[in-house]
Amino acid sequence: MERLLKEENIIGKRVFLRRLTLADISQTYVDWLNDSEVNHFLDIKHTRQTLATVSAYIQSYEQAKDRLLLGVFDIASNEHIGNITFSWIDWLHDTGVIGIAIGNKAYWGKGYGSEALSLSVEFAFNKLKLHRLEAGISTLNVPSQRLFEKVGFRQEGRLKDRGKFGPTKYVDGFMYGIVNTSD
Ligand SMILES: CC(C)(COP(=O)(O)OP(=O)(O)OC[C@H]1O[C@@H](n2cnc3c(N)ncnc32)[C@H](O)[C@@H]1OP(=O)(O)O)[C@@H](O)C(=O)NCCC(=O)NCCS
Repeated sequence: MERLLKEENIIGKRVFLRRLTLADISQTYVDWLNDSEVNHFLDIKHTRQTLATVSAYIQSYEQAKDRLLLGVFDIASNEHIGNITFSWIDWLHDTGVIGIAIGNKAYWGKGYGSEALSLSVEFAFNKLKLHRLEAGISTLNVPSQRLFEKVGFRQEGRLKDRGKFGPTKYVDGFMYGIVNTSD
């Protein structure tokens, strides 16, 4: 776990990323987690989010050895606009699962998601020394598919009835992956 950053910021052109802490909790953050457009494809939609659930969520990442929660911050305003998660980090095989949400909808469609995801991939390969990242994306979540493709992920397969995302009970999911070709 020493490979995980503690205080360091990951700085891009318009966003920076750093570990999320309890001090980052705000009602605005809670509100975007409860926004049905934001959480439509996220498992958190099944639990009404509160200051307490968010606090427990952040704490669950603090001591974990196989996952990491980063906040995405707008450099211009210093505002917390989204999150990146690394989960199921497998230090034996150098793999992990990545997730992203830009919770503040005012930032959608302006390239913030691509910058945050691309910084996260660089960080995972160069600092965490992971070799492969993967992401499961609902076949209905076209914005997310485009985002991952833009950053260099490839669609590796289609999983039948992968989750309950959408009007019908089960919806297929795509598995996306990216590997560090310089390893
Ligand atoms: C998916 C998400 C992170 C995209 O963030 P974003 O900041 O809007 O993404 P970007 O502006 O960087 O766009 C990246 C690419 O995605 C595609 N895209 C973004 N919004 C889109 C939309 N509404 N419809 C279709 N494509 C879209 C575009 O191809 C875009 O690249 P381009 O502008 O060069 O064509 C954001 O919509 C979000 O947080 N959604 C809710 C949570 C979620 O679904 N997370 C993913 C779970 S797998």
